[in-house]
Amino acid sequence: MKAPGLSFVAWTAICLTGNGAVLAAAVNRSPDTANSRPEFLPWSISLGDALSSKTSPLPTGGFILNSTTPLATLDYGTEVAGIPFFSVSAVGPEADEQSVQIEVRYSESYSPLAHPWSDGPYVFSVSLANGFRVETFNVSSRGSFASPLVQGGQRWQSIRLLLSDEGESTASISFERVGFQATVDPYDVTDMPATFQCDDDGLNVIWGLGAAAAATACVDKGTQPAVWEVDTEKGVLLRSQKPAVWAHGYALANYTMEFDVMIERGGVWWTVAMPNGGYTSYLQLRLVGELPEATTFANVNRTLAPPNSVLLSYGFDFVNQTTLPSLLLDTFSVTGPVAEKSWHRVKTVLAPSGRLAVSLNDQEVFNISMSDYYTGGTTVSFTGNFGVGAWQDEVAYVRNLTVTDTANGSTLYTHPFTTTDVLVDFGTQPNIESVCLDGPKRDRLVWLGDFYHTARVVGSSTARFDMARGTLDFMLGTQSEYGVLAFMTPLGYEPATLALVGSDGALEDYQLLGASSMYSYVRHTDDLDFLRMTWPKWQKLLGWLESRVNATDGLVHLNGQFLAMGATAPTSSASCAAVQVFREFAELAEALDDNAAVSRYTTLADGLTKTIQEKLWNEELGVFAAAVNDRRNFSVPATAFCITSGVATTEQANRSITAVRSQLALGVGYKDGTNVDPEDPETKLSPNTNGFLLGALFWAGAYSTGHDLLRSLWGAMIHDPETSSGASWEYVFPDGKPGLDRFTSLAHPWGGAPTYVLTEWAAGLQPAAGPAGFGYRSWMVNPQAGVAMGLKRAEGRVQTPSGPLSVRWEMLAGDTAKMRVVVEAPSNTTGVFVLGATKMVLGEKNRYAFDVLVE
Ligand SMILES: *[C@@H]1O[C@H](CO)[C@@H](O)[C@H](O)[C@H]1NC(C)=O
Ligand SMILES: *[C@@H]1O[C@H](CO)[C@@H](O)[C@H](O)[C@H]1NC(C)=O
Ligand SMILES: *[C@@H]1O[C@H](CO)[C@@H](O)[C@H](O)[C@H]1NC(C)=O
Ligand SMILES: *[C@@H]1O[C@H](CO)[C@@H](O)[C@H](O)[C@H]1NC(C)=O
Ligand SMILES: *[C@@H]1O[C@H](CO)[C@@H](O)[C@H](O)[C@H]1NC(C)=O
Ligand SMILES: *[C@@H]1O[C@H](CO)[C@@H](O)[C@H](O)[C@H]1NC(C)=O
Ligand SMILES: *[C@@H]1O[C@H](CO)[C@@H](O)[C@H](O)[C@H]1NC(C)=O
Ligand SMILES: *[C@@H]1O[C@H](CO)[C@@H](O)[C@H](O)[C@H]1NC(C)=O
Ligand SMILES: *[C@@H]1O[C@H](CO)[C@@H](O)[C@H](O)[C@H]1NC(C)=O
Ligand SMILES: *[C@@H]1O[C@H](CO)[C@@H](O)[C@H](O)[C@H]1NC(C)=O
Ligand SMILES: *[C@@H]1O[C@H](CO)[C@@H](O)[C@H](O)[C@H]1NC(C)=O
Ligand SMILES: *[C@@H]1O[C@H](CO)[C@@H](O)[C@H](O)[C@H]1NC(C)=O
Repeated sequence: MKAPGLSFVAWTAICLTGNGAVLAAAVNRSPDTANSRPEFLPWSISLGDALSSKTSPLPTGGFILNSTTPLATLDYGTEVAGIPFFSVSAVGPEADEQSVQIEVRYSESYSPLAHPWSDGPYVFSVSLANGFRVETFNVSSRGSFASPLVQGGQRWQSIRLLLSDEGESTASISFERVGFQATVDPYDVTDMPATFQCDDDGLNVIWGLGAAAAATACVDKGTQPAVWEVDTEKGVLLRSQKPAVWAHGYALANYTMEFDVMIERGGVWWTVAMPNGGYTSYLQLRLVGELPEATTFANVNRTLAPPNSVLLSYGFDFVNQTTLPSLLLDTFSVTGPVAEKSWHRVKTVLAPSGRLAVSLNDQEVFNISMSDYYTGGTTVSFTGNFGVGAWQDEVAYVRNLTVTDTANGSTLYTHPFTTTDVLVDFGTQPNIESVCLDGPKRDRLVWLGDFYHTARVVGSSTARFDMARGTLDFMLGTQSEYGVLAFMTPLGYEPATLALVGSDGALEDYQLLGASSMYSYVRHTDDLDFLRMTWPKWQKLLGWLESRVNATDGLVHLNGQFLAMGATAPTSSASCAAVQVFREFAELAEALDDNAAVSRYTTLADGLTKTIQEKLWNEELGVFAAAVNDRRNFSVPATAFCITSGVATTEQANRSITAVRSQLALGVGYKDGTNVDPEDPETKLSPNTNGFLLGALFWAGAYSTGHDLLRSLWGAMIHDPETSSGASWEYVFPDGKPGLDRFTSLAHPWGGAPTYVLTEWAAGLQPAAGPAGFGYRSWMVNPQAGVAMGLKRAEGRVQTPSGPLSVRWEMLAGDTAKMRVVVEAPSNTTGVFVLGATKMVLGEKNRYAFDVLVE
């Protein structure tokens, strides 16, 4: 038997890029152009005829691409986000200025730059960003230009001069400057409002991972520009973004959709029968124009999308992308050329008979029966939303969009598409609230469950509590009549229109994680005004949770659970997480003097705890069972929540951690549960669930297990310059490479638990327990975990409503183990210092400095 335990990547190989500074983006804060955004600039470059990650500092005066060196690989050092811009000083040959085409690719890790779609496309949601990671430009004169669309997150960029196949090319292009107009605040993880520092540089870089993820995934109101533009004559301008759907169209069925289109480049993409939320397959249609020489980029693949055709697919796109499969069902040719820059009428009929028909300018293109096509074993439903968009590098105007009932002709939706209110209808307006996304690159949705970690990471790094509050407010705006919130909210829609997403029984435990993030927000800020204002909504959500406590077995029954790892209700993960939420909300209720709620939530938590002990603890194995009917499986999330909720006794915590260590260790971390097949090449580790566990390990005093997990799982994210993004990852393969392949997000705050765990445990700076600790009015410093981890020095700082609060401790040289402690605290706060048997009450002062003996 293989000895259990985590495998480590070499600690000495911590990625400190470039000149040895800790990962930080090069930022230009005084832009010389008209745009008022700061700029992210590349750190280094390599020039040649092939990609290379061996980059050197950018030459002053810029760089030239020509037939000998047609390709530039640019490294920004860490995750950056923004609108790509280019400043061109010459387009050659000089004597006879001609246009050149450049293909630009973006990627979080290095190797996807070699792939035709780089690390995209992102076709899960319309995200107020370019949906593609490859972008082509036609440059015909010197000067500056920028992409119309945001690239949400990347460390790497490549720029290739597209050369014609025939003969020696004399084409060249000289760049003075390239970079990104920032759509997030420029950040430096070594200089954040809340900080952590210790004598182990590896841990410092790991602390920065969550900080960088939160800095790039949380966006200010209005910073993410609209992805549609409206022309009062020509209608909506569509570019490089999957179809955006109508905010109210999910219940439509058996309809006929018609619109006028004028193709500027390439073609147009539209969607029909998109189900609620769009997270399963649906019908995709694409009209490809005649692709004339003058406006068709040299990199267009005519095999994939032949000129004068209509493509039909079932899935998310017309190409496959990791977890978003697509079946290209058919390619139909159109009679006569589909001319660019002239209007065409496109009509799509979903008939109750199950036939799908498309016509162009009243000429039938096809009329098929869906059942004649293989659609992966599912019957295609004609119920769902409609929308319009454009594929990579394609540009089209759409106007006069009408949807009617196919059977009776009544109008279901109609809009000229020539006024800006259509951006509200289709969620393509600039972001209306400051919110935290699950990732700057992908999926760029406000995911309810992800915010559990994000809210804590924000409190320990960026201290952008306005964004945390904005996120909570935005999510509450989606509350349904049953009390649940949308589990994923796109950025551009009015939240109230999204009530449907989430009340369909999917990912119900995200409601619990979302509620818990409210507790974390109040714990950091003491924002009782916001709590009071939103209290009825939270009570409604908790009322829904209470309704899920089953009268027969006394446990929480949820559908579509994320944390259950395949087990079905009633699970330990749902019941333990519910105990945590009820206990947290009892504290929130106490802060509002709502005694009825305090006693209600406390009673619920007590009752559940007792029932979990009776029905879910497996005394023989020493684990909280996956579920009542699955007593021998167990999982990381259930173990974590049964500990942090306070359900587990000290002995149960000890035994279940021992079981996780001996049975779930896989490569650099812990697999999610006993039922995960370690041999499956797709098995990946989740820094999200390992993050729940990380907090639980420190909570339970398993410091060395926690320290090992920090170094192995999060160490994997920092040791290889070709994969490290400076930010925390969404998934990790057991061998330490990014999980989920090219598609994965390498800036995911849900993977950033170390950022708050290190501050709270290694530096030992925490709010005191209960409502008294809200906003750190009462705080605690306890460096015991940091000492146990072998640290000689640690410091942490947080921002409280009354100002910064910081602690610094250091082991002193000498025979006796002695520690020097300095705490700087705002007025009106009090605290305790605890270390082993030492306990000191601190109050009245702004600065405390003392030495203590370490036993
Ligand atoms: C391309 O540019 C490089 C230097 O920037 C120069 O050495 C080389 O001769 C140029 N190649 C051509 C074909 O002009
Ligand atoms: C690029 O721009 C030039 C000059 O405006 C134009 O003649 C050419 O057709 C354009 N090429 C493409 C592919 O758009
Ligand atoms: C073009 O697309 C086809 C079909 O997907 C593919 O087989 C081919 O490799 C692509 N060509 C290039 C140059 O990418
Ligand atoms: C996507 O992958 C599936 C399964 O491998 C395959 O059947 C399908 O043809 C692929 N789709 C495209 C568009 O290549
Ligand atoms: C659409 O038509 C199909 C086939 O007749 C039918 O089963 C379905 O109920 C219809 N949908 C609605 C919402 O009317
Ligand atoms: C498609 O074909 C069916 C059966 O032939 C016919 O009843 C229907 O009218 C056609 N639909 C359109 C939009 O032409
Ligand atoms: C819009 O389309 C309808 C048909 O659906 C047509 O009757 C109308 O004339 C069109 N309006 C404009 C402004 O083109
Ligand atoms: C036509 O169908 C729609 C549903 O698509 C229905 O709401 C409406 O009542 C129907 N109208 C008539 C006149 O039957
Ligand atoms: C309540 O639990 C019992 C026993 O586990 C089960 O049979 C029943 O379906 C559950 N009811 C609900 C509403 O989940
Ligand atoms: C664990 O779960 C898997 C998958 O749900 C199941 O096949 C297996 O029987 C379970 N193992 C035990 C020991 O219950
Ligand atoms: C469990 O308790 C034993 C005995 O106190 C201790 O040696 C061990 O380290 C503990 N294990 C964990 C995982 O806390
Ligand atoms: C401290 O508390 C007093 C009395 O409640 C208040 O007047 C003062 O403004 C507070 N000071 C700070 C810095 O919060």
